[in-house]
Amino acid sequence: MRGLIDIAELSIEELDSLMDVAEDIIANPQKYAESCKGKKLATLFFEPSTRTRLSFEAAMYELGGNVIGFSDGSNSSAVKGESIADTARVVGCYADIIAMRHFIEGAPFVADRNCMAPVINAGDGGHNHPTQTLADLLTIRREKGTFSGLTVGFCGDLKYGRTVHSLCTALARYKDVRFVFIAPKELRIPSYLIYEVIEKNGIEYVECESLEEAMPSLDILYMTRVQGERFDSKEEYERLKDSYILTTDKLQTAKSDMIILHPLPRVNEISVEVDYDSRACYFKQVLNGKYMRMALILKLLEGAKQGISADAVRPKPISDDAQGKYVCDNPKCITHTEQELPQAFRLVDKEKNIFRCKYCETRVKNI
Ligand code: CP
Repeated sequence: MRGLIDIAELSIEELDSLMDVAEDIIANPQKYAESCKGKKLATLFFEPSTRTRLSFEAAMYELGGNVIGFSDGSNSSAVKGESIADTARVVGCYADIIAMRHFIEGAPFVADRNCMAPVINAGDGGHNHPTQTLADLLTIRREKGTFSGLTVGFCGDLKYGRTVHSLCTALARYKDVRFVFIAPKELRIPSYLIYEVIEKNGIEYVECESLEEAMPSLDILYMTRVQGERFDSKEEYERLKDSYILTTDKLQTAKSDMIILHPLPRVNEISVEVDYDSRACYFKQVLNGKYMRMALILKLLEGAKQGISADAVRPKPISDDAQGKYVCDNPKCITHTEQELPQAFRLVDKEKNIFRCKYCETRVKNI
């Protein structure tokens, strides 16, 4: 493991080990206070963030390291036209590890291919957000003690909610889970997750539109914000933004030990009155996120120590299973904005001849 672009890169054993390290950091913070002395984290945030950026920065400071970076891409040379590949390659000459958030899907993947330092995906458009998943997993383990036998309800914007995509992918490894996807039909979970992650792993799931109907069966309710910034139509966002609002009334039929998670920020999808309910765990998630990011930084820097060579500064080639036959048709994919980036597809199902873009995972439609 070099950086972390997709949560699927981590095995269950690696996830467990990160959670064990996070637990040890919580119990013995002094032991880690100088673990990253002399090391620098670069936070390259091209999209707004409160939790992810500040928790990465707090994590590095608590490990005794330093932080450089920017919180707004308009203060970087990207505004002069510098590519993501070049930006990453340059910052890799200054920093030991990079956390990148970008509104373009696949941007951290491209950064990682072009950079000497390990790159962490801190959220790429509506695609993935693996370090939020680390926070979610630790919260579930701490609150429920297990990942087995749980019924997890995902509610809200399951189409653009990148944290849902990454968490489903991680939980699908723990076979004995059940998913309930609660969303309006316009914001349903992407089909690639259903067919290639959930069904492939034999996970039982249902899709429905009613939170009230689903509530009594849930062990975990994962609420999400409707992601206004990802919509092409403002009218459609206005129509869908209040699809689900969790109130204490609606919690009356929930299990007494159900936990409520939310990656935050919330707008109005969880009423503030719910914060007083002992089942509300979304602010615990925030704190757990910092400890998991500390554990991740430690793991990646340990790996980087063994792997760095002068040649690592050269771009790493990206293979294409489709041999140049296709072009990604996702307008939010990095292949449409980054200069001279080769198209690259992964054959995900040989029998059905299904190819997906390596950068953004969009399925090729013209076959
Ligand atoms: N959960 C999350 O990614 O929050 P921020 O957008 O504030 O980083």
